[in-house]
Amino acid sequence: DWTPAHFITDTVAQLKAQIGDRKVIMALSGGVDSTVAATLIHKAIGDRLYGIFVDNGVLRKGEFEQVLETYKLLGLNIKGIDAKALFYKELKDNPDPETKRKIIGRLFIEVFQEEAHKLTDIKFLGQGTIYPDVIESVSVHGPSATIKSHHNVGGLPEKMHMELVEPLRFLFKDEVRKVGRELGIPANLIDRHPFPGPGLAIRILGEVTEEKVALLQEADDIYIKALREHDLYATVWQAGTILLPVKSVGVMGDERTYEYTVALRAVTSVDGMTADWAHLPYEFLATVSNEICNNVRGINRVVYDISSKPPATIEWE
Ligand code: XMP
Repeated sequence: DWTPAHFITDTVAQLKAQIGDRKVIMALSGGVDSTVAATLIHKAIGDRLYGIFVDNGVLRKGEFEQVLETYKLLGLNIKGIDAKALFYKELKDNPDPETKRKIIGRLFIEVFQEEAHKLTDIKFLGQGTIYPDVIESVSVHGPSATIKSHHNVGGLPEKMHMELVEPLRFLFKDEVRKVGRELGIPANLIDRHPFPGPGLAIRILGEVTEEKVALLQEADDIYIKALREHDLYATVWQAGTILLPVKSVGVMGDERTYEYTVALRAVTSVDGMTADWAHLPYEFLATVSNEICNNVRGINRVVYDISSKPPATIEWE
C-alpha cells in the first residue's frame, strides 16, 4: 500500500544508499516539488545537501524573503542569492517573450554554476522532477515542447556533469503534496499554485523593468491575498496578474490620469494542458479591482480575462 509515511521511509533509505557520504547541490524555487525533494534529501544526508535559491528579480512580492525563512525553519542548508540587478540589466531592451525566457534560463544557470564552483567535490545534482515532467520531456512533440521553451531548471544536468538525484520521479502532484504534508512542510507552501520559472517576466508584456515589476508585484499581492481571504485560492488551479503594455485615461479626484491596465487571470485545470477561466464572483472581482486602483499608483484600470485554453494559453506570453 502506498502511503506518504512508507514512501518517506523507503526513499530516505534509498537516498542514503545512493549518496553515501558525498554531497548534493540543488536549486530551490519556492515551489512544492523542489521543496519536498530537498526536504527528503536533507532527511537522508543533512547539511551535505547544499540548496541554492536565486532572486531573479521577477519573483512575487516578498517571496524571496518568505521562502528563505520557511527553508530555514525546515532546517535546510540553503543559500539565498540576490541576483536581481544582473537579471534586470540583461532583460533591458528585450521585449520578445522567448528571448526573455532564454535570458532568464541562461542567467539562472550561470548564477547556479558559479555557486557550484565555490563548493568542492559535489557529485550529485538534486532535482524536484515529478512523473508528468518525465513524460513531458519524453514526448518531444507535446504542445509545451513545441510552442514554448518551458525551461524551469532544465538544461542544468547536461552542463553540470553530475549524477541526478530525483526522489519524486515517480510521483504525481497530489502525491507530492501528501508527502510534503507528512514531512511537516507548511500548508501555504504545499498548496501553492504553479508559478512559471520566468516568473513575472512573462506576465509583463514587452520589456521588463524594475519599475514595472514593482507595480505588478503590488497588484498581484492584492489579488492573491484576496483569493486566500475569500477562500477562493484553493478553488482555482492558478491565478495571477498580467501587466499590459497599454495606458489609458482615468480619473482621480478632479484630475485625469494616464496609467497602466492589469488583467486578472484565474483558471481551473487538471494539468495545465487545457484550462477554463474561473467563474469568480463579481463581488470578489469588484473588491480586487477597487483595491488595486485605489492602492497601486500607476494602475487605473483592471480587466478580467475570460478566455479558455485552447485557444488562449494560461500565461499571456
Ligand atoms: P501556458 O501559458 O502554456 O501555461 O498555458 C501552462 C502552464 O505552464 C506554466 N508556464 C511555464 N512554466 N516556464 C515554466 O516553468 C515557462 O516558461 C512557462 N510558461 C508557462 C504556466 O504558468 C502554466 O502553469
